[in-house]
Amino acid sequence: MAMATAAASSCTDATWWAYAVPALLGADTLCTHPALLAFALLLATASAALLAWAASPGGPAWAHGRGRLGAIPLVGPRGLPVFGSIFTLSRGLPHRALDAMSRATAGGGGAHRARELMAFSVGSTPAVVSSSPATAREVLAHPCFADRPVKRSARELMFARAIGFAPSGEYWRLLRRVASTNLFSPRRVAAHEPGRQADAGDMLAAIAAEQCASGVVILRPHLQNAALNNIMGSVFGKRYDIFSSGSGAGAGASEAEQLKSMVREGFELLGAFNWSDHLPWLAYFYGPSNVARRCAELVPRVQAFVRGVIDEHRRRRSQSSDAPDDNADFVDVLLSLDGGEKLADDDMVAVLWEMIFRGTDTTALVTEWCMAELVRHPGVQARLRAEVDATVGADGGCPTDADVARMPYLQAVVKETLRAHPPGPLLSWARLATADVALSNGMVVPAGTTAMVNMWAITHDAGVWADPDAFKPERFIPSEGGADVDVRGGDLRLAPFGAGRRVCPGKNLGLVTVGLWVARLVHAFEWALPEGAPPVCLDEVLKLSLEMKTPLAAAAVPRRA
Ligand code: HEM
Repeated sequence: MAMATAAASSCTDATWWAYAVPALLGADTLCTHPALLAFALLLATASAALLAWAASPGGPAWAHGRGRLGAIPLVGPRGLPVFGSIFTLSRGLPHRALDAMSRATAGGGGAHRARELMAFSVGSTPAVVSSSPATAREVLAHPCFADRPVKRSARELMFARAIGFAPSGEYWRLLRRVASTNLFSPRRVAAHEPGRQADAGDMLAAIAAEQCASGVVILRPHLQNAALNNIMGSVFGKRYDIFSSGSGAGAGASEAEQLKSMVREGFELLGAFNWSDHLPWLAYFYGPSNVARRCAELVPRVQAFVRGVIDEHRRRRSQSSDAPDDNADFVDVLLSLDGGEKLADDDMVAVLWEMIFRGTDTTALVTEWCMAELVRHPGVQARLRAEVDATVGADGGCPTDADVARMPYLQAVVKETLRAHPPGPLLSWARLATADVALSNGMVVPAGTTAMVNMWAITHDAGVWADPDAFKPERFIPSEGGADVDVRGGDLRLAPFGAGRRVCPGKNLGLVTVGLWVARLVHAFEWALPEGAPPVCLDEVLKLSLEMKTPLAAAAVPRRA
């Protein structure tokens, strides 16, 4: 009702041109001069847009009083008419830009209101972002924020049928149930340890070879190979010999290359900012990334690949009537579902393909950030290595998942990495309000608003974390005055996996994998900058996740021959 009234009033304000121009020129004049009529209409539309923008904190997408539905109105930057804040957000580091914008808005008298929730416009998309743990919790936990806005690239790449983008109805609940009871259950994660260990072992051997050949290791490709193989093993039950290259490349190397190129293309398409998602009219004039064409080319390749894997599994299963054991891959698990849980082949393709996407880059890049911090902080690295050695033995076997669970300093190092460099600084994929949502601070977020949480702003807020720019794992060790923070969505001061109904279902797998890899990398090598190298560069680049702009290059000195 409030919205309707506001809409009506802004309409009356803005259309005076349409009445004034004929009055000034005479109605006959306008009818006989179509060009003049078109000009008058254009002027009326432009003035309506300008007035609506000028009267709307949050910018053009917040016209018609959308931001004033609650007792406490929303505040936020107006940005530019029509475009809002799109230019600030489409390039650079949007989490930092939004953090700065919310501080600037709060300084203008809104006293922390913009930190709690700030309205802004991405073209015609109304958006809010929270930079405070309390409001972020409300947003993430509220049932009316359980949908996600679906970008064009995600829709065209079939993700609307996958867990991450499916609307929060019965189908999505079924997928979540299957994920928690089957795909990511603690038993399944534990049963996949041998695969994780094998991938880590191959990675360490490849690192040792590169160190021996060139005296320095670019860690990222090793982590990416291990992550891809690890997720391929868990999801498709397939592993490739991708650690050797050229003539040494093993069986399936070309299939692995194909797969890598599909994953790379998908990452680019999903991570790219698509202007026409927010300015639909622009699609007629401008499409620099050719999203539609590239998606149309990629989808059949993905379908052929994933269907091939599903068919292989079907053939194998037709020869055995055994139920899948704990070590079964995701394809076998999905094929074994029955009755109401059974998925159509297209849906299986979407679910499986999404897992490959979600699971590959995140674990690799968290491990890379972690190792970069360990190179920058030799004291932290030495203390961590001492803990690993004390748990496993310096010369003995290699760390296991069970060892990792008994290493509080390692857990603290991983948490501090997630705090300093949250892989999804805006929690990657936003939420969508499906109804008007009243928050406890008196603000109301109207239906149709895209809602984000700026996790980076929260984890770098000096009011939430003391000395936020310093890398200090001790802040998570209670016996040293730190806090025992649950990073799996229970404490919004540090929720890198999100929270609420759409919290990351792969969080345990992600944490176990990163913990094991860091333990093994530190157990096997001493990591340092090569002689004369410049300091580690912590500059960021935000693609689908937050990556190091310059890949880490370090000397990995083997600890034993
Ligand atoms: C360190 C590793 C990881 C991080 C930091 C991470 C982070 C996230 C975040 C922030 C979200 C959005 C949560 C929200 O909206 O509240 C998410 C969702 C999701 N993640 Fe992860 N993730 C990781 C690993 C994984 C892995 C290994 C998988 C699967 C193989 C996975 C699968 C998913 C899926 C399917 C969703 C969508 C859930 C839904 O919308 O219902 N993630 N993740």
